[in-house]
Amino acid sequence: MARCRMASHVFVTRPLPAPGIDLLKDSGFEVRSNPEDRPLSREELLAGVRDADALICMLSDRIDSELLDSAPALKVIANYAVGHDNIDVGAVRKRGIEVTNTPGVLTEATADLAWALLLAAARNLGAGERMVRAGEWTGWGPMQLLGEPLQGRTLGIVGMGAIGQAVARRGKGFGLEIIYFNRNRVAPEIESSLGAQFVSFDELVRRSDFVSLHAPLNEQSRHLFNQQTFQSMKSTAVLVNTGRGALIDEVELVAALQQGRIAAAGLDVYEFEPKITEGLVSLDNVVLAPHLGSASTSARGDMVRLCCENVIAVLAGKPALTPVHA
Ligand code: DGY
Repeated sequence: MARCRMASHVFVTRPLPAPGIDLLKDSGFEVRSNPEDRPLSREELLAGVRDADALICMLSDRIDSELLDSAPALKVIANYAVGHDNIDVGAVRKRGIEVTNTPGVLTEATADLAWALLLAAARNLGAGERMVRAGEWTGWGPMQLLGEPLQGRTLGIVGMGAIGQAVARRGKGFGLEIIYFNRNRVAPEIESSLGAQFVSFDELVRRSDFVSLHAPLNEQSRHLFNQQTFQSMKSTAVLVNTGRGALIDEVELVAALQQGRIAAAGLDVYEFEPKITEGLVSLDNVVLAPHLGSASTSARGDMVRLCCENVIAVLAGKPALTPVHA
């Protein structure tokens, strides 16, 4: 691989799998990383980017004008995530700095996790596991923890990008009818291969037995699921979120689950991550995962590789592989 003439400096905000990071070192870059497996404080982040040419950051790092002011040499920001709501993309691009993300490589891992949560929430797996672990299980019971069946029911997908489509593909195998809402209708060939029907958001909310969220978080989608939405959902509905926490008004979700306005929820992401909204942890009809969507060995390895390839391309004056546009 061609070596760079000057040792450009890449700042990485969290330890990442070595094979990917080695790509940078082999290309002659100086790599400085946060050595500890914890998010950097704001001060540490600002200090770390001070003379960096490239930044590889996490979804928990806020990238805004203040950070850009501290990083005059920055040419590329590679987000180690497909979602990029942590980045003020407009402000970054206005300064001529490239922004990249990691689409594609975490699609299947995230779809698998959405299904793990859907099945666990629909069939009371969390409550059952807690019962067994607590030594409270007294044996099989005909009325014990009855859940929602899947066959013949309707799965509503909000956000029909790559991950939404991967969730829909799996849904066919469970005998579900698939409906979806997306900013733009997807191509007819995709609809027919998935057997998915495009509907309005209101119709999706009213008709779905299961709802899985895959929309990006922005000002239009923030709190898409709010008190009014919960009122329109079926009382037997199960809501799954592997997108971004703030797609849901979590205080209203707690109320909806407490009052039985919906049956259950499976959450991988949280509105105030890593803080969990009061009331959620004590509910038996919610399954809580610690943002594991992309946490498969291959997805995380491919994510770091893609981040590094983006950095290498941009610092070599070439187009980014997976640029993000405002
Ligand atoms: C993403 O890529 O946006 C995921 O949330 C990371 O796991």
